[in-house]
Amino acid sequence: MRARITGTGSYAPARIMTNADLEGLVATSDEWIRERTGIRERHIAATGEACSDLAVQAGKRALAAAGVAPADLDMILVATCTGDYPLPATACLVQYQLGATKAAACDLAAACCGFVYALSVADAYVRTGMKHVLVIGSEVMSAITDWTDRNTCVLFGDGAGAAVISASDGERGILSTHLRSDGALCDLIAVPAGGSRQPASEKVVGERLQYIKMKGNETFKVAVRSLEEIARETLAANQLTIDALDLYVPHQANMRILNAVSDRLGLPKEKIMLNLDRYGNTSAASIPIALDEAVRAGRVKDGSLVMLGAFGAGLTWASALIRW
Ligand code: UT7
Repeated sequence: MRARITGTGSYAPARIMTNADLEGLVATSDEWIRERTGIRERHIAATGEACSDLAVQAGKRALAAAGVAPADLDMILVATCTGDYPLPATACLVQYQLGATKAAACDLAAACCGFVYALSVADAYVRTGMKHVLVIGSEVMSAITDWTDRNTCVLFGDGAGAAVISASDGERGILSTHLRSDGALCDLIAVPAGGSRQPASEKVVGERLQYIKMKGNETFKVAVRSLEEIARETLAANQLTIDALDLYVPHQANMRILNAVSDRLGLPKEKIMLNLDRYGNTSAASIPIALDEAVRAGRVKDGSLVMLGAFGAGLTWASALIRW
């Protein structure tokens, strides 16, 4: 018995913010953003549009693609760091909106690695008896973005991606997942306040501590190293070499990071799924959005070997190898 991805879906808010729009907010330029990151534009949620709203749309599309009814779901996992509320879990709001009457529902916090971590949990549950699990990565990063900080505000965007994981006989499905963490590097990317360490207060808001802070340059170096390392570990665990891969779907954070990783791995550029020019970094949503676009564009076919690779706050890094 394997866990197979039987349907994918994604959703992005209607509003598009271009690099030119950002030039009006902070001292930056379209040229700087494109050259340093590869990003041209990103989607931004409307006022009042929350994580669960995006997640429900992506989830519905994935369920339709899989031909699975909401009532047949055993579990819903929402990977996010920008849930609607500190509690309840966003997954419960999604469960209600979808009418998934017999599904367990909870959120998973592993920042940009959230989708791959959640996929790994779904894989374990499906191989031990569940029939259908809905995994969603959904983020409204604009809610934790400091629009006065040019170091971070040019990078992030909003969106959601989803996959239905179903029990399946045969060789197709998730072949392996690999999850890592190093909390010693927890200060590279963090939202300093709003949790139990420093609850919301006027002081917190005054000092803008409810927003994401990132040491971009240090994160960049660790990202390249960890993505390369976990890709090699994943291939070795399956006795495969890089030539066997049909498509690499990485976390969409920075084009220069992905160029460096593909050079180190000897992976041709045409085997990398890239859409960060149109979405920016959507954290846990980035891999499932990219995966859904790859599937719908016909870049993933039955039998294709697909590798997912992620890194993010924590630090965490993760990968999954899938025989489609
Ligand atoms: O999913 C979460 C994982 N996070 C990431 O993957 C982020 C990884 N890091 C990065 O993507 C890059 O480090 C950045 C895109 C954030 C920054 O690129 P960089 O090439 O590492 O630039 P830098 O931080 O070394 O800054 C170079 C210069 C600095 O000016 P000085 O000190 O050389 O005068 C910055 O102040 O660029 C300046 N700068 C900007 N200039 C124009 C920083 N942000 C901007 C900006 N527009 N938006």
